[in-house]
Amino acid sequence: MDLTNRTAIVAGAASGLGLESCRALARAGARIAAFDINEAGLEALRAEFGDACITHRVDVSDEASVDAGLDAAIEAFGAVHVSVNCAGIEGAAKTVSRGKSFPLDLWSRVIAINLTGSFNVIRLAALRMSTNAPDGDSGERGVIISTASGAASQGQVGQAAYSASKAGIVGMTLPIARDLASYGIRVVTISPGVFETPMIAGVPDAVRQSLIDNAILFPKRMGRSSEFGELVRHIAENAYFNGTTIALDGGARMAAR
Ligand SMILES: NC(=O)c1ccc[n+]([C@@H]2O[C@H](COP(=O)([O-])OP(=O)(O)OC[C@H]3O[C@@H](n4cnc5c(N)ncnc54)[C@H](O)[C@@H]3O)[C@@H](O)[C@H]2O)c1
Repeated sequence: MDLTNRTAIVAGAASGLGLESCRALARAGARIAAFDINEAGLEALRAEFGDACITHRVDVSDEASVDAGLDAAIEAFGAVHVSVNCAGIEGAAKTVSRGKSFPLDLWSRVIAINLTGSFNVIRLAALRMSTNAPDGDSGERGVIISTASGAASQGQVGQAAYSASKAGIVGMTLPIARDLASYGIRVVTISPGVFETPMIAGVPDAVRQSLIDNAILFPKRMGRSSEFGELVRHIAENAYFNGTTIALDGGARMAAR
C-alpha cells in the first residue's frame, strides 16, 4: 500500500516501538492517529507531528474507548487504512514465590491489555477498513500489524502471563488474516527480541550485558526502535506479507535463566 495520505492508527503510540512506528509511517507520507493512555506522551507527539497527527486517549482494553478513537481518526482524516498495535505491559511475577501464587488480577490485566486489547483494536479497526474503497494497484483495503514478542515461545522466569498474551497474538494472526482476506485486509505480527525502550529501562546493566553476550546472535546489541518502525512501514507497503509472524530479534535465543 502506498502510504501517501493514508491514515494509520497506532495504539501504544506515546513511547518506544509505537512512537518509532508513528515516525516511520509519517516519513512515508501517512497521517497518524496516535492512541495511548499516556497523555503527556500524546502531547509530545502532537508537538512533533503537527497537523499530520491527531491524538486520542485510548485504553485498548476498553471497547468504547477504542471506538471513540477510531471515530476521531475518521472524522479527522476520512478513513483508517493501517492499524498498528504496540500497546502492552509486562506484568512480571513468578507462578509461586515467597509463599504466594501469581496474583490472578495481574494475570487478567496482562491478558486484558496485551491480548484482548490487541484483538479489540483489530476487530474495530477492521470493521472500518472493510468499507474502504479497494486500493488501485493491490486491491487492499487495510493492513493490521500487531506486536508479539520472543517471549511467545521463549518466555523467561516471571513471564507466564506476558508469554501467554504474546503467544495468543501469534496464534490469532493466521485466523484473523483468513477472516479478513475476502475484504482485502492483511494481518501481520512482528515478534521483537529485546529492544531499547522504556519498557526495559528497569533491567539492570548486568542482565542487559548477559542478554547481549549470551542470547543475541548478531549484531551484538539490543534492537533499535527505529528498526522496528521501519519494519512496520515495510509491511504496510509490501502487499505480499500476510498471515504470518516475523521475528525481528538479531537471532536471539533465550537461555533458561
Ligand atoms: N521493548 C522490548 O524489548 C519488547 C520486546 C518484545 C515485545 N515488545 C512489545 O512491544 C510493544 C511496545 O513495547 P515498548 O517496548 O515500546 O514499551 P513502552 O512501554 O515503551 O510502550 C508501550 C506503550 O503502551 C501504552 N499502553 C499501556 N497500556 C495501554 C492501554 N491499556 N491502552 C493504550 N496504551 C497502553 C503505554 O502507555 C506505552 O506508551 C509491547 O506490546 C511490548 O510487549 C517489546
